[in-house]
Parts: sequence; structure tokens; C-alpha cells
Amino acid sequence: MKFFLDTANVEEIKRINRLGLVDGVTTNPTIIAREGRDFEEVIKEICSIVDGPVSAEVIGLTTEEMVKEARILASWAPNVVVKIPMTEAGLEAVHRLSKEGIKTNVTLVFTVAQGLMAAKAGATYVSPFVGRLDDIGAEGLDLIKRLKTALANFHFTTEIITASVRSLKHLEEAAIAGADIATIPGSLFPKLWSHPLTDKGIAQFLEDWKKVPKKS
Ligand code: G3P
Repeated sequence: MKFFLDTANVEEIKRINRLGLVDGVTTNPTIIAREGRDFEEVIKEICSIVDGPVSAEVIGLTTEEMVKEARILASWAPNVVVKIPMTEAGLEAVHRLSKEGIKTNVTLVFTVAQGLMAAKAGATYVSPFVGRLDDIGAEGLDLIKRLKTALANFHFTTEIITASVRSLKHLEEAAIAGADIATIPGSLFPKLWSHPLTDKGIAQFLEDWKKVPKKS
């Protein structure tokens, strides 16, 4: 499974990247706004740090606007992936961009049907949002399992990015379901690599080590 970082915070990216855990980065307008930096500057900086795909989202709502923005975003760095919202205009933009060789990530996907439409239109990635489905009382992880099966049934090459990941369970179950990628907020990573029994075990070992006779 590939791990993407769902952030535009450069220090956070550098920190997690040092652990070898960053295969790519995803952003959205909310994430970009949080940094208070120029969009182009921050995307170019992230692309220079991370070898893998870096998603940058369009703002336009018409196909023409999306395609125009996508071409600009894609010119910023070779690893830019253009994030396109899951709408009729978005699907047309994805289809046109795929023919130009521009990689796309279709975002705000909440049903298997939407995921299939995106894959069929030529999306490189599709981003189902598990946390936001949980927020409305649905079972977000069911979408991951069902979309994985649906795309595999027809051998689509579109990769599933499990997005809106909020918990250890989201990450683990997405991995077990075979999602290609999880995009994870930086703040969640420490919860993924730590466990209270690990901490307790280290403390116990250090305590017991004091009882070992030392020559000097
Ligand atoms: O990757 C999409 C993600 O940023 C959305 O997460 O927590 O705002 O639903 P969230």
C-alpha cells in the first residue's frame, strides 16, 4: 500500500519523508488555505521534496475552466496530478486531460457509481472520502471494499486513494480491503506507528536493564 500525506505543510512532509513513508502528497483548497502561502510556490516546493505524485486541485466548475487550469498546474512540475471534482463537467475534463497525458485524481467520490464513472472517463486516481461518509452515519469503509471489487471486476487501472482518513481503523481496513493508497493527515501518523504496550515495553526493558551487573 502506498501512503500519501494529506497536507501542504512542508515541515510535516519533510519529517514524515525522513521515515521513508511518503509515496506522494494530496492537497485541496482547504489544506492550501491553512498554510497561508502562495499556491504555486507551495506546490512547486512540495514537488521538489517528494518524488511521487502531488495532487493540486482546480477551482473552476466548467470543463473549459478545469482543462485550462489543469494545463497550468501540470506545467509546474512533472509529478503534479490534477485534482478534479466528481461532476459531469469534471468527467469531461478528466477524459480530455487523459488524452493529453495529464494525470488526474477525481475527488469527492461517495458512491461506487461515481468511482466507476471516474475510472471509465480515464482518471489516474479516484478518491473516495471515508470520514465524511462516517460523518453522515454511513459506513465509509464499505465504499472502499465495494469500489475495490467493482474496479477489479473490470480490470480498471485507476488507483483508489482512500481519502478523508481520520483513524487507525480507517487505515487498517482500507489496507485489508486492498485500497492502493491511503492519504493520511500528518497529525494521524504518530497514532499509526505507536502503541501503549510498545511504550510500556520499552520502559520495562530499561528498568530491568538497571539490574544487569555492569563491569564498570
Ligand atoms: O483527501 C481529502 C481530505 O483532505 C478530506 O479530509 O477530513 O476534510 O474529510 P476531511
